[in-house]
Amino acid sequence: MEEGGRIIVVSNRGPVTFSRGESGEREHSRGAGGLVTALNAVVRRAENAVWIASAQSEEDLAVAKEPAPYEVEDLRIRLVEHDPKSYDLMYNVLANPLLWFVQHGLYDLPYSPALGEETRRAWEEGYVPVNRNFAEAVVETAAGEESPTVLLHDYQLYMAPLFVRERLGGDVFISLFVHIPWPEPDLWRVLPGYVREGVLESLLAADVVAFHTRRYARAFAETAAAVLGAEVGDGVVRYRGREVWVREYPISIDPEEFEELAGSEAVLEQEKYVKGLPGKLLLRVDRTDLSKNVVRGFAAYGRMLERHPEMKGEVTFLAQLQPSRTDVPEYAEYMEAVGRTAEEVNERHGTDSWRPVELFMEDNFPRSVAAYKNFDVLLVNAVRDGMNLVAKESAVINEKNGVLVLSENAGAHEELGEHALTVNPFDVDEQADAIHAALTMPEAERERRAKALRDTVKSNTIEDWVEAQIEDIESYRERHG
Ligand code: F6P
Repeated sequence: MEEGGRIIVVSNRGPVTFSRGESGEREHSRGAGGLVTALNAVVRRAENAVWIASAQSEEDLAVAKEPAPYEVEDLRIRLVEHDPKSYDLMYNVLANPLLWFVQHGLYDLPYSPALGEETRRAWEEGYVPVNRNFAEAVVETAAGEESPTVLLHDYQLYMAPLFVRERLGGDVFISLFVHIPWPEPDLWRVLPGYVREGVLESLLAADVVAFHTRRYARAFAETAAAVLGAEVGDGVVRYRGREVWVREYPISIDPEEFEELAGSEAVLEQEKYVKGLPGKLLLRVDRTDLSKNVVRGFAAYGRMLERHPEMKGEVTFLAQLQPSRTDVPEYAEYMEAVGRTAEEVNERHGTDSWRPVELFMEDNFPRSVAAYKNFDVLLVNAVRDGMNLVAKESAVINEKNGVLVLSENAGAHEELGEHALTVNPFDVDEQADAIHAALTMPEAERERRAKALRDTVKSNTIEDWVEAQIEDIESYRERHG
């Protein structure tokens, strides 16, 4: 890796957010989320790496104005200031919902999306300029460097490979990691032609396009063949005389980090609450995202209680939901639907001494970790999910031989499916049955499954994820000079 020159990691959301403390000094808080933890592992491995991300807060904007990368917690961070209108169009119209919805199969296709002028404007005045801005920051950061390595992350940055390539030519290594599902070609065709082709042309200007699963990597290659007529081989797409490697690297976690967290003061404090909940603990931990399938999850739990009234009072469903993308109308509506459905289950099945669902729509990571340690059943029933790190994080610290009920459409299913109870995320009855089977599973089977989950996660950690990519970067460079 060192031979390849400076490493530049780029993601829309950065590792920290800056603010001003009461006495006026600059402070920062660590960004939450699996992607940030994962990219930390990449950046910390390489000397001199720089992480480029969007400025989000007011103090971030001040950091963005500084000429050199800003050093904090061993990281070199360069924040990019975008025009607020462009950023809004990129984030709230083009990336979330349009790309996110298409890639997670969330549209009710007879009615939506209704593409038109607004879409084109969001592309031309939002997505494209924001991506050019990122590419510009890459070019500035790479100035004077020989053979830099540019690692771009996720669907907010699909146009960046092309813009970086245009500016830096063939000497730079470029990869783009797609952290969300890649849909089948026909679903990709929901996008207007200029997005559908523009994104693919740009991704094929990279050297490596990476995904979490074989299923997504295969779907991407098929889409490139169907939409652009690219030539597809085993793990390779050839287009306009270039060879692009299409690879899968299942993202993971740092087990030690979670083992340490599990013993922290904040988590122990929250454990008092979690352990006080009546009966067995059914848990879900998610962002309030439509792709997570929260509403059907509550419906399935309600149905389980209908079919098995003897379970009333014997279980509590704790839903820890972190608010997300609240400026996108579909997300705001979804949060209401989530609240409503939980309330319906509580009204229908609750008693004076027992509330079936405990719903929190707030960010409380220590409570989530406390619940990771104590759940009997974890529900991950996503419509589609790039990976789902909650399934992995919780497996390494759960102390109850907790059973995982897992959607066949979560990326984690490729690795963990055989040790979980698999569900079709659209089948409410099947989920009700799986929840019941998990709650009543004999101890020996619970133990066997929980151990297998833990061992599987520990056999592919975040370090392995980074290592596999570095090996491929080196091989790619050796082969292509
Ligand atoms: O991995 C999916 C992803 O969209 C990341 O790109 C992102 O940082 C994270 O989920 C959270 O989403 P957001 O940054 O929109 O809050």
